[in-house]
Amino acid sequence: MNILIIGNGGREYSMGLALKQDSGVDKIYFAPGNGATDTLGTNIPLGDFHVLADFVEQNSIGLTIVGPEAPLTNGIVDIFQARGLVVFGPTAAAAQLEGSKIFMKNFLSRHNVPTAKYIETNSLESAYKFIDTLETPIVVKADGLCGGKGVIIATTHNEAKKEAGEMLSGNSFGDAGKSIVIEEFLDGYELSVFAICDGKDFVILPAAQDHKRLLNNDEGPNTGGMGAYAPTPLVNDDIYKKLEERVVKPTLAGMQSEGNPFTGVLFMGVMVVKGEPIILEYNVRFGDPECEEIMPLLKSSPLELFYKAATGDLASAKIEFYDKYAVGVVMASKNYPYSDSVPTEIIVDEILHEDLIGNAHISFAGVTKGDDGKLYASGGRVLVCVGIGESIKEAQKRAYMLCGQVHFAGKQCRSDIAYQAL
Ligand code: AMP
Ligand code: GLY
Repeated sequence: MNILIIGNGGREYSMGLALKQDSGVDKIYFAPGNGATDTLGTNIPLGDFHVLADFVEQNSIGLTIVGPEAPLTNGIVDIFQARGLVVFGPTAAAAQLEGSKIFMKNFLSRHNVPTAKYIETNSLESAYKFIDTLETPIVVKADGLCGGKGVIIATTHNEAKKEAGEMLSGNSFGDAGKSIVIEEFLDGYELSVFAICDGKDFVILPAAQDHKRLLNNDEGPNTGGMGAYAPTPLVNDDIYKKLEERVVKPTLAGMQSEGNPFTGVLFMGVMVVKGEPIILEYNVRFGDPECEEIMPLLKSSPLELFYKAATGDLASAKIEFYDKYAVGVVMASKNYPYSDSVPTEIIVDEILHEDLIGNAHISFAGVTKGDDGKLYASGGRVLVCVGIGESIKEAQKRAYMLCGQVHFAGKQCRSDIAYQAL
C-alpha cells in the first residue's frame, strides 16, 4: 500500500521510518516532509487539502496519516473522508479536544473525567473572582492553539490577574486568548500517554515522559520537548487501568454520543497526583518527541495499527510491543527556543560502534537539504538521537553515544533525559 504522511517533523520522520520497514508498505509520500524524509520516500508540497486529495487519488494512496494538529483542526480529515479516502486522524469537530481548551475542559467535566478544578471565561471580573479562590501557583491558559505557549503558571494572585488581563485584551495571544481557562495547579509527575482510537475501540501505547524545559533538571524556558523515553516505570498497571476506565472509555463513549466519534491519536497529558492520574490536557496527535521513541518499540505492523484505526477495525488488530526501552535526546539549534538560528551543516560520523548498530538511529526534524546536497540544521529542534536497550540506562547510553557522533555548530541538548526513571 502507498502511504501519505502529512507533516515535516521528527514525529513524521519516525512514522515514516517505522512504515518503511513494514512489508505491507510500498511507496511513502510526505507533505511537505523535511530535508531527510526524502531518504524514506518522496516529498510533495503541502497544498490545499483538495489538491492533496487529488494527489492521493492519482497515486493510489491507500492511507493518509496526519501528524500535526493544525491540518486536523482545519478539517483535512473531513475533506478526505467526504471523498471516500482512508485517513488516520480526527475530524475537525473531534479535534476540538485540542483546538479549544474550553471545549476540552467542558467535555471532561460533562463526562466526569478527572481534571483540575477550573473556570472558563471571557470576563475579567469572573477571572479575578475565581483567582481569589485558588491557592498559588495558579494556571492561566489561552483557549486556542498557541503553539504550546499559551499556558502561564503564575506564582502570585496578582501575576495571575495580570496574565488573565493580558490574554483577555488580546495582547498576549491575539484571538486565541480572547477566552481563557483558569485552573488549580496540580503537583505531581507528568506523563504522555497515547491511545490509538478507531471511534469506539482503542489501544494504549507504552507510556512516555517528555522533558519540556530547555535545560537539565527541568530548568530554563519551556520548549516543544527536549527529549523523551518510553515506557516509563512511573506508570504501573493500576495507573493504566485507571486511565482506561476513567479517561479513555468515557472519552470515546462521550465523543461518540455527542456525534463526534474520535479516530486517531488521543494524547493524554497526565499529571499523577498521589497515585491518581488527572488529565491536564488532550492533544489529538502524537507527541513530538514522544512518537520518535514509541515507534521503534512497536513490534507488530504499524500499517495494521494505523489502517485498522482509520477504518474502525482496531478490534481485529494484533498489536505487540518489544519488551525494550527507548530514549530520545533532542538536538536543538543554537538560539532555540528564543529565535531562529543561521542554518549550519550537519555532519554525522559513520556509525561503526557495534553497540550502536541496530540499537540507535536519528529521527530528523528541522533539517533542510541544501542545493549542495548537504543536510543543514534549519529548524529549532533539529533531530532526535534515539537509543534502544534492554534497560532505560542502556537505551540512554546509546542515545548519548549517538549524540556524540552528530555535529553542527551551536548544537544544544540536555544531558539528563530519562533522569526521573533512573
Ligand atoms: P498544556 O498545554 O495544558 O499541557 O500545559 C503545558 C504545561 O503546563 C503542561 O505540560 C504542564 O507542565 C503545565 N501545566 C498545565 N496545566 C497545569 C496544571 N493545572 N497544574 C500544573 N501544571 C500544569
Ligand atoms: N511533546 C509534547 C507535544 O508534542 O505536545
